[in-house]
Amino acid sequence: IRVAVIGGGRNCEHDVSLASAAAVAETLEQTGYQAVRLTIDPAGCWRDPQDRPIGLAEAVEVLRSCAVAFPVLHGPRGEDGTLAALCDLADVPWVGSPLGAGALAMDKWVTKLVAGALGIATAPARVLTRASARLLTYTHPVVVKPVAAGSSHGVTLVREAAGFGPALDAAFAHDDRILVEDLVTGREIDVAVLGRPDGSRVVAPPLEIVVPEAGIFDHAAKYGGSPGFLIPAPLDDVARKDLEQAAVSMYDALGCAGVARVDFFLTGQGPVLNEVNTTPGLSARSQVPRMFAATGMSFDALLDLLVRDALP
Ligand code: DAL
Ligand code: MG
Repeated sequence: IRVAVIGGGRNCEHDVSLASAAAVAETLEQTGYQAVRLTIDPAGCWRDPQDRPIGLAEAVEVLRSCAVAFPVLHGPRGEDGTLAALCDLADVPWVGSPLGAGALAMDKWVTKLVAGALGIATAPARVLTRASARLLTYTHPVVVKPVAAGSSHGVTLVREAAGFGPALDAAFAHDDRILVEDLVTGREIDVAVLGRPDGSRVVAPPLEIVVPEAGIFDHAAKYGGSPGFLIPAPLDDVARKDLEQAAVSMYDALGCAGVARVDFFLTGQGPVLNEVNTTPGLSARSQVPRMFAATGMSFDALLDLLVRDALP
């Protein structure tokens, strides 16, 4: 069975995506699939499995020559539903979420609105453009982030006024809309949800991220050292149920498919949703493969399930 594994992408998570896509392609091959590697380079140009530049029409032909596509792009122009839309229009089945879920989850402001409608807490925030941001002054600790980005690119924890302007600039470097969120202090807990075609949901044991002291799980912590993960996260039954219920509610409300990772802060008042990743990191060091491994489901079994569920 030929599976088109798409990696790279024209965004700041390009390299993370390449690592995820390589892990997916290699593991699928070990399981007996034929992985057909397609890459989108940083300039947005498609490349064939021999790394030769090809046009979009040619890329679509490669997709059509496969039984299923496995988009492994993180961030804008990939995880935001654009690749799902391309597969949909090309009539190629694909692994993962449809256009709507990708677009809604990539927009961290809209994600908050959906969560709010479901009664799931998120950090109070303002959404700002360059014009409206000029009117804002620093009053208390905040996290400044692009509305649409990933892997913590452009995210800054601001604890004093001097850091506010540079933090705004860093976020606007990634997006025309940014969020200024009140700082939420809590344990960082991720929940992976796998939706099956029959409507059932498999929830892997929640993972806790051991965050560097007095900091946030930022880009350096994610990819610089070796982040500490606790699986399963030490949780009482009430907290675990609250987290799992909130994760599944978000997954369903957004219309996700395949596997999504729903990230929370667990505070004294309960779970506070941070974000939903419709194409979570899938490299060997990423959370999702480790979370499912803890249930006894190996990475190849997880990928096999995702591909089979996507086949018509
Ligand atoms: N955005 C990164 C890849 C993640 O969610 O794992
Ligand atoms: Mg993310």
